[in-house]
Amino acid sequence: MPEPVGEKLRIREMTIDDLSQVFHIGEEIFTSEYSPSLYRTWDEYEITTLFNSDSELCLVAEVGEAIVGFALGTTVEKHHSAWKYGYLVWLGVRKGVQKVKVGERLFREIRRRMQEQGVRIIIIDTDAENAAAIRFFEKMGFGNVQQHVYMTLNLGRRAKKPGDKRP
Ligand SMILES: CC(C)(COP(=O)(O)OP(=O)(O)OC[C@H]1O[C@@H](n2cnc3c(N)ncnc32)[C@H](O)[C@@H]1OP(=O)(O)O)[C@@H](O)C(=O)NCCC(=O)NCCS
Repeated sequence: MPEPVGEKLRIREMTIDDLSQVFHIGEEIFTSEYSPSLYRTWDEYEITTLFNSDSELCLVAEVGEAIVGFALGTTVEKHHSAWKYGYLVWLGVRKGVQKVKVGERLFREIRRRMQEQGVRIIIIDTDAENAAAIRFFEKMGFGNVQQHVYMTLNLGRRAKKPGDKRP
């Protein structure tokens, strides 16, 4: 069982000096089998793009000098909609520190900040197999699960035509 972090835990805005630590923690958690979607992968550009677009929504969780988790988000305004959406893009907690409420503390803080920015709805997306994350977000009050289908077309192979006998 990981030790409770309790009062030792501090949630603060990410700074430029934290980028490399956050990147490495993400590399441990978002391994090659992890994919929230086909179009998003964990890399340096994800962090720097989100940091440059809304640094108030890029948070880290710290115990002493060590970063143990992060939440990176942004806001989205849709055409034809008066509502502002908050998009929590990446939420990660180091493996040895999971399940002691670091994720919850990060989420509560990013939700507070989004609300302050006028957000009405927060959206997240994650792989359908990621039971831990789905359970976590349900616990945080998320619902209204919407399914999304990804399809791929391999352009490296010749498409099979109807009546084509090739295997
Ligand atoms: C999802 C994640 C951020 C949760 O962070 P965490 O700090 O471990 O979660 P918390 O301790 O704050 O958990 C809060 C609640 O979420 C639920 N939960 C968290 N982890 C869970 C797990 N592995 N299985 C089932 N429920 C879980 C529990 O209901 C928990 O409340 P409880 O302890 O009172 O039962 C963390 O597991 C993680 O980093 N996962 C890998 C990355 C990922 O999938 N990110 C989300 C999509 S970007």
